[in-house]
Amino acid sequence: MNNSEGWELVCIGCGTTAETELPDSTCRKCGNLLEIRLSREIDVRSLFVGEGPGIWRFRQALPFSPDVEPVSLEEGGTPLVRAERFAAGVGLQNLYAKNDGQNPTGSFKDRGMSSAVTRAKTLGVRALVCASTGNTAASLAAYAAKGGMHAVVVVPRAGVASGKLGQAFAYGARVFGVEGNFDQALATVFDLVRKDERFYLMNSVNPFRIEGQKVAAFEIYEQLARAPEYVVLPVGNAGNISAIWKGFKEIRNLGVVDSVPRMIGVQAAGAAPLAAAYSSGEPFKPMKEPRTIASAIRIGNPVSWKKALGAIGESGGRAVVVSDEEIMDAKRRLAQEEGLLVEAASAAPFAALSKLELPREASVVCIATGNGLKDLSDHGGEQKIEPAADIDSIANSIGG
Ligand code: F0G
Repeated sequence: MNNSEGWELVCIGCGTTAETELPDSTCRKCGNLLEIRLSREIDVRSLFVGEGPGIWRFRQALPFSPDVEPVSLEEGGTPLVRAERFAAGVGLQNLYAKNDGQNPTGSFKDRGMSSAVTRAKTLGVRALVCASTGNTAASLAAYAAKGGMHAVVVVPRAGVASGKLGQAFAYGARVFGVEGNFDQALATVFDLVRKDERFYLMNSVNPFRIEGQKVAAFEIYEQLARAPEYVVLPVGNAGNISAIWKGFKEIRNLGVVDSVPRMIGVQAAGAAPLAAAYSSGEPFKPMKEPRTIASAIRIGNPVSWKKALGAIGESGGRAVVVSDEEIMDAKRRLAQEEGLLVEAASAAPFAALSKLELPREASVVCIATGNGLKDLSDHGGEQKIEPAADIDSIANSIGG
């Protein structure tokens, strides 16, 4: 597909250009994922001074013609917060959190949801569907509402954070459960979109999701006034690491930056098929029963595994694992030392820092992918309300 809007859909496996956008977003020849390549000229001088809501400030680098009206809740443009106290604890001097939990529905998913729902609208789609561990469901539901479309989400019947499910219901989605995990939910959704053309697939296999998410790289460059040396982020279905790497490569190809970060993907030890392939050097193998307290990344068969291993390999990065205990400890320390409340999955990159042995002065950006308010059950500490019997008992609480 090489259309008048200045982009084409290319298979990441065999390089074939797809003639049409297929329901399951995979190459008809070899079954690999597709990605969008921009074939239009980008005016670098004006790229960073664009106007528009959220990610749409960078619409020159997004696959839409100027007349397309975005479906936007002003996603993106999230703060890059310096985390000095946490950094000192792990021997770093220049650590930042890209706080994507401040997006409209509380996770980074909103970036790509805005671009993919906008695409759906231009195609005249009426029903959007996704599989989800919770955040994609919440985000899809909100953007479908904004775009005036039906939202259908398929989730693991057990284990999704109640805050995320509550969001999906509140925004008016229909919610279906599978007996199993995310991988079974995604298989169900693939079956559905291949059978019934009324449904448009909204997982990160959809290349329009990746386009919105890549904008995080542009923002990080802009906020630091250069590319960081490391970007560390949690990996589940492996869309976001692929997207952020794509963003950095694009600004390097445009001559905006000379250097790009090493991409470090972090998985929970019980749900780490990518890290296993990376460290063994053996071919990627899905993991049957992924287990971790970080329910957002409880995924055994990440659909974008090939893109993610590409991002890690090309950037000179790594894939590492952290234990659930390390995740919960990092989550608590981020909240109590930095005032940054993230969900468990989003604490994983911070948990990895103490074992990565990065150079002390290196500039390191961890992506805080999701807001901790979504899942207050995984706080990891005791929530004990003490009796306010008299003011002395309160006064004593801070010691001498
Ligand atoms: N962090 C959070 C908070 C997430 O919700 C997810 C994915 C990830 C990290 C991993 O990102 O899949 O692009 O590698 N959540 C998906 C969902 C699977 O359904 O909400 P990824």
